[in-house]
Amino acid sequence: MSNMASRPIVLVGMMGAGKTSVGRTIADRLGIPFQDLDHEVERRTGKRVATIFAEQGEEAFRALETELLGELLSRSNSPVVVSTGGGIVTIAKNREMLNDPTLNVVLLEASIDQILERLPDDDARPLLRGDRRSVLESLWRSREAEYRRVAKFVVQTNGLSIDEVAQAVMRELQVAV
Ligand code: S3P
Repeated sequence: MSNMASRPIVLVGMMGAGKTSVGRTIADRLGIPFQDLDHEVERRTGKRVATIFAEQGEEAFRALETELLGELLSRSNSPVVVSTGGGIVTIAKNREMLNDPTLNVVLLEASIDQILERLPDDDARPLLRGDRRSVLESLWRSREAEYRRVAKFVVQTNGLSIDEVAQAVMRELQVAV
């Protein structure tokens, strides 16, 4: 494994960009651990993300997210792939942590049309209420600059399968399997 994968690979981007599936695939290919921040929040609290939002509010969810991001990154002197939730860049402390030059932060970019196709029609994502397209457009408008600021690499995912995106990320990071 080349040098790049010996540092944490952190995937950022909008919901539906494929962070979880692509992250798991890259970790499998490279034979390194995979951590998904949303799943970790759910594991630690024993509650679904949607339940945390409903019972405690978004702020409480963000506080948990920040705490766990800190924990995951501080343990990560060894190789790991970390998939974050789409809102990770909305909190200054998170952006500060992601700006660490030793991390390989990768933005998975996807058009709103692509995201709408990929997202399941369920209620797992509490911010996606009402008109999904306009919610996503407004989230992208408010987050795009921050995603780009924290990302060292940007990978386009439109029209690509999970495997193809995973390959594209590994090519970008120059990690071979
Ligand atoms: C959110 C994205 C979700 C989850 C929560 C909030 C967001 O993660 O953290 O619903 O603010 O964009 P995914 O990006 O994995 O869907």
